Amino acid sequence: MAQGAISPLINKLLRARYPLGPNTVKALFWPHPSPVSPTMSIAPGPAPARSGPWSAAAIPDQSGRLALVTGANSGLGFETARALVAHGATVVLACRSPQKAAAARAQLLADLARPNPASPASSQGALDCLSLDLADLASVAAAADSLAQRYGRLDLLINNAGVMGPPRTLTRDGFELQFGTNHLGHFALTQALLPLLRGQSDARIVTVTSGAQYFGRIDFDDLQGERRYDRWKAYGQSKLANVMFTLELQRRLDASNAAIRALAAHPGLARTSLQPSSVAASGSWFEPIAYRLMDPLFQSAAMGALPQLYAATAPEAPSAGHFGPDGFGGMGGWPKSVPVAAAALNASQCQRLWQVSQELLAGCPAWPQMDSL
Ligand SMILES: NC(=O)c1ccc[n+]([C@@H]2O[C@H](COP(=O)([O-])OP(=O)(O)OC[C@H]3O[C@@H](n4cnc5c(N)ncnc54)[C@H](OP(=O)(O)O)[C@@H]3O)[C@@H](O)[C@H]2O)c1
Repeated sequence: MAQGAISPLINKLLRARYPLGPNTVKALFWPHPSPVSPTMSIAPGPAPARSGPWSAAAIPDQSGRLALVTGANSGLGFETARALVAHGATVVLACRSPQKAAAARAQLLADLARPNPASPASSQGALDCLSLDLADLASVAAAADSLAQRYGRLDLLINNAGVMGPPRTLTRDGFELQFGTNHLGHFALTQALLPLLRGQSDARIVTVTSGAQYFGRIDFDDLQGERRYDRWKAYGQSKLANVMFTLELQRRLDASNAAIRALAAHPGLARTSLQPSSVAASGSWFEPIAYRLMDPLFQSAAMGALPQLYAATAPEAPSAGHFGPDGFGGMGGWPKSVPVAAAALNASQCQRLWQVSQELLAGCPAWPQMDSL
């Protein structure tokens, strides 16, 4: 491949994740020490004395807490489950493949059985598996029912699962796959699980977004990409939707006096199955080359999981907080508070997205009607 062709390609891929418009350059490369949370309804607890960056070792004891992680069999979800269970939580691995969930559980149990001075055996939690296909609203409803029957409560929901850049495909209910899985599936799951989170001490909902939010745009006239589908624009839209959902969710939780924190996090660039799955789905021959060239920019899945773990467990993480890596361009590093995409700060657009999402659920025969926030 001629070098002249690779360079625009890398540019395109980088822009796909970190578009270099005037706002995003500012957003990505300027330091933003202060949280951008529009609401701060839940007083953060005292920050623990800590020197150096926040790492998984700083996770407070999670004993007695019940966490559900979507897409926990792979990548960031797997590392998130690993860290939470190592600190005492009971973690429900919510996965679309029961076989992959069982394999992930076995792997985590084997890892936990090894002596680890950072995680004494007495503080280790438990692991459970739950069948959940976010691209099938009947499965989402069944998963929520199953969790309610098994536990009757939930302390921490991590909306982590995602797909990136497939050719236009539909969910079982007829929604565009990225919008349907990354946003609508989690939107539905969150609503269905809210009754289990209400009243729990320090209940949190963490939704995993991406640097792709910064180039995302919600195309309300063609949400499902029916008229024109661009797989990267659809990914950006779904990841912007993750943030807009979080901010609107927090507003609605506050309005209903629910003491639940909604937070969002992005991992930067992390070596997971996301890119190989994307390449396999698209059949692209040049993207593997580009990813190989970009490999030095990628950090481990364990590092990539830190922002969502911070959002999920740090006592000082404020409601509506948004976290990402602190390194150059937000691509890697330790977790810190980072700005959301400017588009997500438009409260009326967030509200509109919520209403449209609610209407899409209401029009879906597979979705049992339930009270919305
Ligand atoms: N890795 C990065 O550089 C990066 C950057 C920005 C944002 N993110 C975000 O990070 C999150 C986690 O991705 P990852 O990087 O850890 O990728 P990953 O290793 O591919 O994990 C994605 C997980 O989502 C699951 N999933 C996909 N579709 C699903 C569905 N319909 N129902 C239930 N689960 C489904 C996958 O299940 P299967 O194993 O069955 O496919 C897998 O467990 C995603 O939201 C992604 O957008 C990642």
